Amino acid sequence: MAYTNSELTNLEGILENWRTERIPVTIANRTRRIYGLVAGVYPVSSYLFHAKAHRIALDFANIQDGTKVLEVAVGSGEMFSHIAKRNAKGLNVGVDISPEMAAVTLRRIQREHPSVDCTIEASDARAMPFRDQTFDSVMCCYLLELLASNDIVRTLNEVRRVLKPGGTFTLIMIGQNREYFNRAYRVASKLVPAFWGQQMDRRGLELLEACGFENVREHTVTQTLYPSRIVLARRHS
Ligand SMILES: C[S@@+](CC[C@H](N)C(=O)[O-])C[C@H]1O[C@@H](n2cnc3c(N)ncnc32)[C@H](O)[C@@H]1O
Repeated sequence: MAYTNSELTNLEGILENWRTERIPVTIANRTRRIYGLVAGVYPVSSYLFHAKAHRIALDFANIQDGTKVLEVAVGSGEMFSHIAKRNAKGLNVGVDISPEMAAVTLRRIQREHPSVDCTIEASDARAMPFRDQTFDSVMCCYLLELLASNDIVRTLNEVRRVLKPGGTFTLIMIGQNREYFNRAYRVASKLVPAFWGQQMDRRGLELLEACGFENVREHTVTQTLYPSRIVLARRHS
């Protein structure tokens, strides 16, 4: 995406203000390894902490059957399975940086939805192997926290590139509205940053807007003490 000078200044301002950052440089290789190791047990965490937010995000996305949908960072595929059910006549594509996660999840999805067109690739959200303006909707849950700030901008630009103008981008970020949770998260994230990442607060929304998305709707929900912020955004044409 080409930025105008004032857009660039705005983007640099947001990044500059990100002073508390705990992921100053990319840690994608460590993240790939750690999620590969937990691929077999990750569904438990998704079930305990993410299921409620997934359902709200699905409602926000309002996926139409027969369309082209991309999920970025599919993990163990709980959301991807819902997408495949709603878009049974369409094309469902997932990516995950961990080849183990992508393979385990694809096998499960093919068992659950044998007649639906589904594919999951081991690839990096920062440089995705798709043509410009391919997808009607893109979904992405709990990924941005794991990325360094420059990588968040690269990822948002990639999502914008592969999304059709006017297409929707639904994402879930970890909420930051509970102090007990924020404190526990800071400790966890210091111990294993490649697994926990960093909370985004409002900066996620600011970056979304700076990268060419209009924020349409948002909602916060808590499950098992774990807060999630669900955001529906639209790509400017
Ligand atoms: C916290 S899990 C979330 C999984 C799933 N989206 C969910 O809602 O439960 C983060 C996932 O992002 C993947 N991931 C991390 N960095 C990535 C990147 N740069 N590109 C693609 N996937 C990435 C990890 O392998 C992991 O499966």
